[in-house]
Amino acid sequence: MGAKVVVVGAGAREHALAWKLSRSPHVAHVFVAPGNAGMPVCFERWDLGSFEAFAKRCVVEHIDLVVIGPDNPLAEGITDILESHGLLVFGPSRKAAQIEASKSFAKDVMEAARVPTARFKVCDSAADAKKVIENESWPNGLVVKADGLAFGKGVHVCDNEEQALKAVAELAPHSPRLLIEERLAGEEVSWMAFCSGVDCSLLEPARDFKRLLDQDEGPNTGGMGALSPVPGVPAHWAERMQREVFEPTLRELQKRGCEFKGLLYAGLMVDFAQDRYWVLEFNARFGDPEAQVLLPRMKGDLYEWCRASAKGELAGWPRIVPFSEESAVTIVAAAPGYPQAPQSGILIEGFAAKSREDTMSAVPPLFSAAVKKDGDGFVSAGGRVFSVLGMGPSLKVAREKAYAHFSDLSFKGMQLRRDIGEKESRSQALPRIAIFASGRGSGFGAILNAIKNKELAAQVCVVFSDKNDAPVLELAKREGVPICCVDFSKFGRARRAEFEERVIAEMRTFQPDFLVFAGFMRLVSRFFIDAFRSPKGYSRIVNIHPSLLPSFPGRDSYAQAFEHGVKITGVSVHLVEEEMDGGPILAQEAFDISDLRTASEVEKRGLSVEHRLYPKVLNWFLQEQFQVETLSSLASEIAGRRTRVLQN
Ligand code: AMP
Ligand code: GLY
Repeated sequence: MGAKVVVVGAGAREHALAWKLSRSPHVAHVFVAPGNAGMPVCFERWDLGSFEAFAKRCVVEHIDLVVIGPDNPLAEGITDILESHGLLVFGPSRKAAQIEASKSFAKDVMEAARVPTARFKVCDSAADAKKVIENESWPNGLVVKADGLAFGKGVHVCDNEEQALKAVAELAPHSPRLLIEERLAGEEVSWMAFCSGVDCSLLEPARDFKRLLDQDEGPNTGGMGALSPVPGVPAHWAERMQREVFEPTLRELQKRGCEFKGLLYAGLMVDFAQDRYWVLEFNARFGDPEAQVLLPRMKGDLYEWCRASAKGELAGWPRIVPFSEESAVTIVAAAPGYPQAPQSGILIEGFAAKSREDTMSAVPPLFSAAVKKDGDGFVSAGGRVFSVLGMGPSLKVAREKAYAHFSDLSFKGMQLRRDIGEKESRSQALPRIAIFASGRGSGFGAILNAIKNKELAAQVCVVFSDKNDAPVLELAKREGVPICCVDFSKFGRARRAEFEERVIAEMRTFQPDFLVFAGFMRLVSRFFIDAFRSPKGYSRIVNIHPSLLPSFPGRDSYAQAFEHGVKITGVSVHLVEEEMDGGPILAQEAFDISDLRTASEVEKRGLSVEHRLYPKVLNWFLQEQFQVETLSSLASEIAGRRTRVLQN
C-alpha cells in the first residue's frame, strides 16, 4: 500500500511540497493541513487545530510522514509533539529550530562554528541599541533586526544611523531583543540542504528577491520571486558550503543538544569578486518562494529524501541532490497593501482556468497561497496570493514563460515585480571567458572596458594567473572579477603536467566557455588544449601575439621587428595550438613603424593596436561561436587560414 503524507502549512511553498510529494511512486495520499482553497482538490485538506489533536488524527489515519512547511509551528515545537506520538516528521525539533527562530542564537552558533557572518551586537533594550548605533562605526550602513520570527519583515536595512534609530523605534515595541549588524554588499544566494545529525545533502542554490519593488527598492517582504540556478555561483561552491557552513553548523547544533534534522537553509550574501560570503541567516525549512523553483528542478523522489532525513539515515546518500539542467523562475503576485496591510477579498480573474492547466503540464503553472473561495470564484485572502512558475532551457525562457501566465491571470491592485531574473538571464546568456595573464593585465583592462562599453558581449568569469604576485590579480580584485592563481614556480618545468592538471581542475569550477590569453607567458601542452577543445574540434583558447605571424614568434616580438628593420609589423589574434604561436589565425592588423626610433616606441604603438583589436575580434569570434550554426563556415575559414584583416 502507498504511503500517506501530510504537509503542514497553507502557502505556495506547501502547494509545491504537496505536488512534489504526490509524484513519488511510494506516495498514495497527500493531505494538507490546513492548505488553502486554491490548491488542487486531490490534496485533501485538514484543519490543523492544536498540535495534540493534529497528532492524534495523524496516528488514527496511519500517516507515514509529516512534512512541516513553515517556521512558526517548528518554533512552537510541532515536531516534538508529533514525535511523542510515534510519528515520523520532516522538520527539526523546537530546540533545533531556534537556529531560525532566534537570530541571537543563530549568531552564537555561527560564531562558535566559525561560519562567516556579519559583525553584530545583541541589544536587550531600545536604549542599548541606540548606544550601539551611536557609539560604534558603521561605514557601510547597518541592519536592525528583531530577534524573533517576523516573516522576513522584522529586518530594516539602513543607509545610516538616523534610519537605524528610526528602525529601532519601530521594532522595539514588538521585540524586546534587537540585533544591530553591519550592512554587507553583494549578491544574495539561498542555499538549502537535507540534513540529519551531521550529514547533509545539498540542493542547488536559488535566488530570492526580497524587496517589494523593482530594482530592489521598497520594504523587505517574505519574497517576491525566485529563480534557480543562480548564474555566477562556481560549481565547487557546493562542496565548500558543505565543508564551511553546513557541517560545522550541524556539528555545533549537535554539540549543544539541538541535533538538526529536516531542511537547513543558509541565506548568504556573496561577494564573488573577493571569493567571499557571509551567512545572513539560517532557516529551518524550505524557502518560500525558493521551494517553488527548487522542487520542480529536483530530480528524484522528495518523499524518499524527506524520509531519510526524518529517520536520521542520510549518511550514504548522495552529498549533492541531483537536479535537472532546466531553469526555473517563479513570480509572486501580492495583494495591494502588502506587506503592511494586504487587502483581502479581491476577485482573481482567470484563477480556476489557470489551475486547470495543472493537469495538462508536467509542472504546475501556479502555486496557490492566500486564496479563498467566494461563490464560484477565488479571492485574495492575505499578502502573497499565489506564485506562477515558468521553466525552460534558460532563465530567459523560464522568465518569459512565468510572466506570460499573467496575460490571463490577474486581480485588481496586484503587486508584481517585473524584474525577477532580468539581470540573471542576461548574464546567463553571455559567453563566459577566463582571462589568463602573467603580468600587468593591460589587455584584460581593455577587454573589461569593451564589456563596460557594450562593445564586447561576454562576461569575465575569472582572471587566472600563474604568478602569485601578478599585478593583474590586484586589478581584477579592484574591478570585482573573481581571481584564481596556481603559482607555476611551485611546480617548475619538471612538473608542468601537474601544474596543468591543477589549472584544468580550477577552471572546471568557473566553467569558462573560452580561455583568453592576455599576456600569459606560458606554453601549454596538447593535453591542456584538448581539455578546452570544442566538440567540433577547435581549440577554445585564444591568444594575441604582437607580430604579423608567422613572423617573429616567441618572446619580445616588437623588439625583434624593430631590430630586423621591418617597416610594417602588426598583431595577430589566433587560436592556441601546440606549436608556439602557431594556431589558426583569426585576425591580424598591420601598422607602419618606419617613423619610430626605438623598440619601446614600437611596443607602445603595438599595445594600442592590441587593445583595440583584441576585444573586437573576441566579440566577433564569441558571437559566431555562440550562434553554433555558423561554426562550420568558420571552421573552413580557419582551416584554410583565411584571415580577416579588420579595419580600424
Ligand atoms: P534575514 O531575515 O536576516 O535574512 O534578513 C532579511 C533580508 O534582509 C536578507 O535577505 C537581506 O536582504 C537583508 N539583510 C539582512 N542582513 C543583512 C546584512 N547584514 N547586510 C545586508 N543586507 C542584509
Ligand atoms: N524566501 C525567504 C524565506 O523563505 O525565508
